[in-house]
Amino acid sequence: MPKADLLAHKARLERANLADLAAATAVHASALTGAGWSAHLERQRLDDAAWHALYDLAQSVGLPEAIEALFSAKTVNPSENRPALHWALRTPSLNGLDGEALSVRESLEPASIFAERLRTGAIATASGTRFENIIHIGIGGSDFGPRLLADAFHMERDRRFNLRFCANLDPIDLDLALEGCDPHKSLVIGVSKSFGTEETLYNLTRAKAWLAAALGDKAADHMALVTSRPDRAHAWLGTAKANCFDMPASVGGRFSIWSNAALACQIALGPQILQDFHAGAHEMDTHFKTAKLAENLPCRLALLDYWNASLIGYPMRVVLAYARRLRFLPTYLQQLEMESNGKSVGPQGIRLQSPTAPALWGGEGSVGQHSYHQWLHQSGQSVPTEFILAPDANSETAGRRALTAHALAQAEVLANGRSHADIQEEEPDLPEAIAAQKIHVGGRPSSFLTHSAFGPKALGALIALYEHRTYAAGVLWGVNSFDQWGVEAGKTMAGRLKAALQMGTPLEDAVTAKIANGF
Ligand code: F6P
Repeated sequence: MPKADLLAHKARLERANLADLAAATAVHASALTGAGWSAHLERQRLDDAAWHALYDLAQSVGLPEAIEALFSAKTVNPSENRPALHWALRTPSLNGLDGEALSVRESLEPASIFAERLRTGAIATASGTRFENIIHIGIGGSDFGPRLLADAFHMERDRRFNLRFCANLDPIDLDLALEGCDPHKSLVIGVSKSFGTEETLYNLTRAKAWLAAALGDKAADHMALVTSRPDRAHAWLGTAKANCFDMPASVGGRFSIWSNAALACQIALGPQILQDFHAGAHEMDTHFKTAKLAENLPCRLALLDYWNASLIGYPMRVVLAYARRLRFLPTYLQQLEMESNGKSVGPQGIRLQSPTAPALWGGEGSVGQHSYHQWLHQSGQSVPTEFILAPDANSETAGRRALTAHALAQAEVLANGRSHADIQEEEPDLPEAIAAQKIHVGGRPSSFLTHSAFGPKALGALIALYEHRTYAAGVLWGVNSFDQWGVEAGKTMAGRLKAALQMGTPLEDAVTAKIANGF
């Protein structure tokens, strides 16, 4: 019984010394690699026997078959009776694709042509000039991915375009996105898979009015909409001749960075960056599809997530992106992992017995060292951290070396700690009360991912890695990673409260009423 074996390994390992485990574990004799990324898992609370028990678990729940089902366009999203075809968007050609996967890949073509014609000026503004401002309006998976991609490669952007993002209902978000933009030279891109998200419709409506005030009935020519509901989009825009591009129903919002949701990036970063980005993801797809379990990067990380969350019981995982280009990655991963696997009931409606996805947070290294690293080192809670070290290969040498040293040092001190004896030897005259406060208990597990030549290909492979890790972990936990029933109740309640606030009618919940009373 894999799960019973795992409990025995947990009991054996939860107090083990990480340094001893790292030395004794042959499983890590060579670094785990895939599509240009290397992962070091030696500082996790696992040894050979525990890893082999995890491999048995993976086999027993059918992880290899689940991987096959994903790439065979089978129904892996049972509650919505859909396949998950984000991988089809990044295949290098149409070859080998058929059915829905083929139409998903073909969905990119019209928007790519639109982007290229706008970049060359063949598509011009209503007054015949070139577009200069590209304003992306979307939220969640219709925002995080494009925003991460645009920020990662801001240095490489096409400087003819000024790219802005707006996501929030807070009116100032759109005010900031439009600040300094001339509507006569602006394209507003609305991205909403459902074309029913309140925040996006609110901001799109305000942006459309902003355009119409300057352009009159030409406003629609300064808009592009990306959605799986063109019927709603055309009705909203009030004209059938809208620039409307497909966001396939079988591509989940948090898996849609590869789709036309990234139209703004296609324009402002140019086609080569997007092609390389897709190529890197496709390379990781091939690795995930073909690598044996023990050498399969997404599978090993998913097994580690299962072990840390469901066996050891760590309630969180902290992602530390030691790369300025990856500063938005933790936010992106929060939706990808927590909206996919933050569930406690399986697809058959049965409550799950063990914890699933941990709370994921983190930020940019080395910046976090001046914020929450005190907590990571000396709070009473030991939580797994995940270092992603990917500085530019051609960045200034001293800075790159220092960043590398800090990332390595943080992981080492978290694992090995700093004993009372170390402190006494280094600072013999220190008062005992202070010496005690300087102790680092250590034993804090971490993973370390590295890439030697970061760029669009590396980012594509990294995001595909996390997508597959999320899916594989969902299979291990027994959840459907592709639906999100947990977001509906809040939206429905907000609709009721908005109406009540508008009408001044009493609010049912006493505390809500007291809080609202102050507004
Ligand atoms: O958070 C719920 C959610 O549906 C996400 O899954 C999605 O990425 C986001 O809202 C935006 O949805 P849409 O693209 O349909 O506007």
